[in-house]
Amino acid sequence: MQAGVQFDQLTEEEKHQHFMDRINRGEKIEADDWMPEDYRMSLIRLIAMHGISEIMGALPEKEWVPKAPSLHRKLAIMAKVQDEMGHGQLLLRVAEDLMAPLGKNREDIMQDLFAKRLKFHNVFHMEAPTWGDAGMIAWLVDGAAIISQSMMLDSSYGPYARALKRICAEEVFHAQHGESIILALAEGTPEQRKLLQDALNRWWPSLIMFFGPKSAKETGNSHADKNIMYKIRTKTNEELRQEFFTKYVPRIWALGLTIPDETIHFDEEQQLWIYKDVDWNEFKQIVSGNGPRSANRLDLRKRSYDNNAWVREALAAKKAI
Ligand SMILES: [Fe+2]
Ligand SMILES: [Fe+2]
Repeated sequence: MQAGVQFDQLTEEEKHQHFMDRINRGEKIEADDWMPEDYRMSLIRLIAMHGISEIMGALPEKEWVPKAPSLHRKLAIMAKVQDEMGHGQLLLRVAEDLMAPLGKNREDIMQDLFAKRLKFHNVFHMEAPTWGDAGMIAWLVDGAAIISQSMMLDSSYGPYARALKRICAEEVFHAQHGESIILALAEGTPEQRKLLQDALNRWWPSLIMFFGPKSAKETGNSHADKNIMYKIRTKTNEELRQEFFTKYVPRIWALGLTIPDETIHFDEEQQLWIYKDVDWNEFKQIVSGNGPRSANRLDLRKRSYDNNAWVREALAAKKAI
């Protein structure tokens, strides 16, 4: 910006250029700063979806709190469920600040969720029928979440980057809790090992889907990935999926488990993992609210939201005094 020129006097194009210069210098954008509308909308979409996924993600493991096999495991999984709800609250607060200039708030996010306008992660629409599934979620779903969230620790949007710093620190504990469940089962009886293998078979396609379909850049589409252009994120879906394979495939094999994909291997020449792709139409169906447990979990969340309306009303009344 030229010296002596007020920001308000700049044209929209100049404001945009000034904004991009800040991002390219590595500066953080704050909630009250000027930002292009599509940057704001991209952030709202991403952070509301992330926040709601944390809250909906607590539900499959919550089912295992009363059934955990020991007091120690019960305390650990209960603490994890509480952490996930806390992550959700933290992120929805960040999303709310972005939505305020549009006259929207958290109530709109919740209503969008109930009307299936706001999607949450595919993995949280799935069943968790055994203790092995509870272990898989904490080990591999949280492991996948750490990979995708860590790349945004340096996000151009300051409030999101700061929230992620705290969230990622807690996710590491979650993954360790999952690893501990998995190791105990892997070293257990043949029945326990079978329980673990069955859980891996169930979760593998969902884990491939977790990172989303290949992005525009990878499919040769000329439209640049907007979130990458705005430095909200730094890696594509496929790059993250490859990172997940590099970290976890050798660990899964080391436990003597079989990945339900006979084609998976690392191709030295391409320096890439080759794997069997999933049915992305099925992914679309699941995230649209047609997964095996979508209706049940949305219903549970809605009932809990309605039952707690009196708390929100009481707090709002207190604030108004
Ligand atoms: Fe979380
Ligand atoms: Fe977690």
